[in-house]
Amino acid sequence: MAEALRVGIAGLGTVGASVARVLREKAAELTRQCGRDIVVAAVSARDARRDRGVDLSAAKWFDDAVKMAETADIDVFVELIGGDEGPAHASVKAALEAGRHVVTANKALLAKHGVALAEIAEKKGVLLNYEAAVAGGIPVIKTMREAMAGNQVTRVFGILNGTCNYILTRMEAEGISFDACLKDAQRLGYAEADPTFDIEGHDTAHKLSILTSLAFGTRIAANDIYMEGISNITQADIRAAAELGYRIKLLGVAQRTESGIEQRVHPTMVPTASVIAQVHGVTNAVAIETDILGELLLSGPGAGGNATASAVVGDIADIAKSRPGFQHAPVFGWPARELRPYKKAQMRSHAGGYFIRLTVHDRIGVFAAIAKRMADNDISLESIVQQGAGPETEAQKTVILVTHETTEAAVRKAVEGVTKDGHLTDKPQVIRIERAE
Ligand SMILES: NC(=O)c1ccc[n+]([C@@H]2O[C@H](COP(=O)([O-])OP(=O)(O)OC[C@H]3O[C@@H](n4cnc5c(N)ncnc54)[C@H](OP(=O)(O)O)[C@@H]3O)[C@@H](O)[C@H]2O)c1
Repeated sequence: MAEALRVGIAGLGTVGASVARVLREKAAELTRQCGRDIVVAAVSARDARRDRGVDLSAAKWFDDAVKMAETADIDVFVELIGGDEGPAHASVKAALEAGRHVVTANKALLAKHGVALAEIAEKKGVLLNYEAAVAGGIPVIKTMREAMAGNQVTRVFGILNGTCNYILTRMEAEGISFDACLKDAQRLGYAEADPTFDIEGHDTAHKLSILTSLAFGTRIAANDIYMEGISNITQADIRAAAELGYRIKLLGVAQRTESGIEQRVHPTMVPTASVIAQVHGVTNAVAIETDILGELLLSGPGAGGNATASAVVGDIADIAKSRPGFQHAPVFGWPARELRPYKKAQMRSHAGGYFIRLTVHDRIGVFAAIAKRMADNDISLESIVQQGAGPETEAQKTVILVTHETTEAAVRKAVEGVTKDGHLTDKPQVIRIERAE
C-alpha cells in the first residue's frame, strides 16, 4: 500500500474538530477508497488544553499555525481558522510556498486572496481545494470546476446563507417579525452574536465571488458586488409577495449581460412554484444555467460541523487519491493566469421585473400620480393595486406595483419622483423579481 497521507489541521473549532473526528471514525472506509491511510499528524489552535471531543494525542501540537505550515511533517495543510488575513492567510500562503497541498473552508480568504493563492498553488504543482467554502456540504465547486467543462454559464444564482434563509422561512411560515426571528436564530446557534456579516449579505457575497470566477473565468472581485441585506424585509412584503405568487429569498446572482458581468446580492422575489422557492430553513441551493446542460440545481446542508466536514474530508481524499507528478485541475477551473479582469455591469443597467410597495397619504389623485411617474420613466406595469397588507389607517394606504421588465435606473428615478411628489408616508420598498423555473 502507498505511504500514508499526513494531514495537519489548523483550527479545531466547529469544523476542525468535526474533520478530525470524521477522519478517525471513517478511517477504514477512507483507506479502502484512497488506497492509503490518512493520518492526522499535526494540529494547531489557540488553546492546547481544550477538549476537542476527539483523541488527538498522536498528532504533534503547534501553537503557531504558520510554523506548522512551514515545518510540520505533513503532505496536506488544512486551514479551518477563518478570517481573510492574520494566521489563516499567512499559514495558507506558507504551506503553498512550502509545496504542500492545502484544503480550506475559508470563503473570506479566497474572496480576497484566492487568485494570488491559486497562482502559488499552480506554480508549485499542488492542490488548493475549497469545496466547503461555498454552500458547505453541497459539492458545487467540483461540479463547476470539473463536471462542466465546455459549458458556457449564463447565470449562477443561489441561496448561500443559511441564517438568512432560516429567518425568511420563519417570517413567512409564522408571521413573525425580522427582529424576533433573528433573536431565535441566535438562541438556536444559527446566527452569530454579531449577525451583520450574514444578514447584510457579506457572507453571500464572498461565496458568490468564488462562483462567479468559476462560472465566467474572471478574476475574483468581491468588492464589486452590489449588496443589500434582509433587515428591512417586513411582514407587509412577505404577505404581498405571497398574494402575488412570490416568495422572498436572499439570493446571490451572477449573470452575463450585454454590458458585462452582473454580480448582486439582495432580497429577491422568486415564483412560489419555482424549485428554488422550495428551499427552506438553513438549507442552501445553487442553480447553474448553461448553454449545453440547461439548468442544474443543487441543494443541501450549507453549514454545520458534519456537513462542512464532509466537504473538507472529500477534498483531503481527492489529494490522497491523486497521483504524484500528475497535472492537477486549475484551482478556479481556468489556470490562474487565464482568469480575465472582470468587466462589471453597473447595477443601474440591471433589467428585470420589480415589486414596489408604497405607503401613501389617502388622498384623491395619489394613485394617478404614481402611475404617471411610472409611465414617464417608460415603466410598464403588470399590476397596480391598493392593498390591505400595509400599516393601514384612515390617513394612509398601501399601493403595490409589479412592473414588467424594466431597468434599475428607471425604477430608481420613478420612485425618486413619487417621493418628491410628497405622497409617501414611509420609506418606499423596492424588491427585485428574479426569473426562476
Ligand atoms: N461553521 C460552519 O458551519 C462553517 C461552514 C462553512 C465554512 N466554514 C468556515 O470554516 C472555517 C472555520 O469555521 P468554524 O466555524 O469551525 O470556526 P470556529 O469554531 O470559530 O473555530 C476556529 C478555530 O480556529 C482556532 N484559531 C483561532 N486563531 C488561531 C490561530 N492564530 N492559530 C491557530 N488556530 C487558531 C480556534 O482555536 P481555539 O479553539 O483554541 O480558540 C478554533 O479552534 C471558517 O473559515 C468558516 O468560514 C464554517
